[in-house]
Amino acid sequence: MGTTAIGSDHGGFEMKKQLMEHLAKEGYELKDFGCYTAESCDYPDIAKAVAKAVAAGECENGILICGTGIGMAMAAGKVPGIRAALCGDVYSAKLTRSHNDANILTMGARVIGPGLAEMIADTFLSTPFSNEERHVRRLSKLEED
Ligand code: RB5
Repeated sequence: MGTTAIGSDHGGFEMKKQLMEHLAKEGYELKDFGCYTAESCDYPDIAKAVAKAVAAGECENGILICGTGIGMAMAAGKVPGIRAALCGDVYSAKLTRSHNDANILTMGARVIGPGLAEMIADTFLSTPFSNEERHVRRLSKLEED
């Protein structure tokens, strides 16, 4: 199990702290890319730092939290090699791993509660890619122009 990169803006700061505590207890190794205080900051700065660490192979996967999860997904998805998925339910978290091989999970701290965020993150981190031919084919089409 590799390192999980984690980051948030001010909107996701409290949820990130709580989630890091939860995941550390479960034995996940985490690298925190900020923010480090609740002061207002720009979500693209954090999203890009996490996405670049995942794309470079420095971290196995990533979790990004902002108010809605939307800005984080948009910014992370612009980095080549990143498949970022905004999830607000456990079913989506499971399927985005097994079908889309998503490598970054994004969540909205102003949309879902901390208990659900923990379940979504647990599911995302523990579900493998199915490696089924149709999903491999579809993912390769994502890379095409
Ligand atoms: C910050 O107020 C908010 O815009 C941000 O957390 C996020 O929701 C952006 O998508």
